[in-house]
Amino acid sequence: MAPVYENGVLSELDEEYLYDPAILESLDFDKCSVKFNPPISPSHPGPGLRVRPLSTNDYDKGFMKLLSQLTEVGEVSREQFLRRFHDMKQCPNTYYVTVVEDTETDHPGDAVIGTATLVVEQKFIRGCAVRGRLEDVVVNDTYRGKQLGKLIVTTIMMLAREMNCYKISLDCKDKMIPYYESLGFSLEPGNSNYMTMRIPKCSL
Ligand SMILES: CC(C)(COP(=O)(O)OP(=O)(O)OC[C@H]1O[C@@H](n2cnc3c(N)ncnc32)[C@H](O)[C@@H]1OP(=O)(O)O)[C@@H](O)C(=O)NCCC(=O)NCCS
Repeated sequence: MAPVYENGVLSELDEEYLYDPAILESLDFDKCSVKFNPPISPSHPGPGLRVRPLSTNDYDKGFMKLLSQLTEVGEVSREQFLRRFHDMKQCPNTYYVTVVEDTETDHPGDAVIGTATLVVEQKFIRGCAVRGRLEDVVVNDTYRGKQLGKLIVTTIMMLAREMNCYKISLDCKDKMIPYYESLGFSLEPGNSNYMTMRIPKCSL
């Protein structure tokens, strides 16, 4: 049956989450060492706000526009977005793209106001352990300074613990180091180099 759209957005019946929202509800923020003032958590992020997995509706709620505040996004059609969404979903226990939605905004096309991703990488080392990678952290510039970055990153840290990751790592610009240090990340002496090779098409 063809999906049903209401005001350009998939009807609730056809909306799909990238991962089970119950995982977020099960996170015990009382055990979290990062403190929030005023206290907020994924289940109580603030009036009108909701922390949840990425959904098939988020293309129309400004998810790609939000990512463009982080880096170059390019032209991505809804079809490309949905294909990538389903490709990710077909890798079980791997992609935890998490968003904050403002459910009361006057701009439904910009309702997704924050996001961060946990990628869980399967390893052979450490007894076939899993490690976490924190990726694509961004809060809409009109919502910054309200602890939402801290909330979404902390949610990813708690998710990584829930998934039994033995560590979680990230790469960031130098100026962001104090931010992540304030959330418990550290530059390990002798082990904090991040190297890159940009790969133009057909150059190798
Ligand atoms: C980084 C970002 C996600 C922070 O979001 P935010 O919602 O404004 O952050 P918070 O309100 O949760 O800030 C939490 C604390 O970090 C501090 N902080 C924010 N940005 C900081 C920075 N660049 N360096 C150091 N501290 C910073 C805040 O002052 C605040 O401190 P406080 O708790 O003592 O008041 C947001 O600024 C953003 O989206 N930036 C552009 C994209 C980006 O750079 N992403 C990171 C890529 S690695």
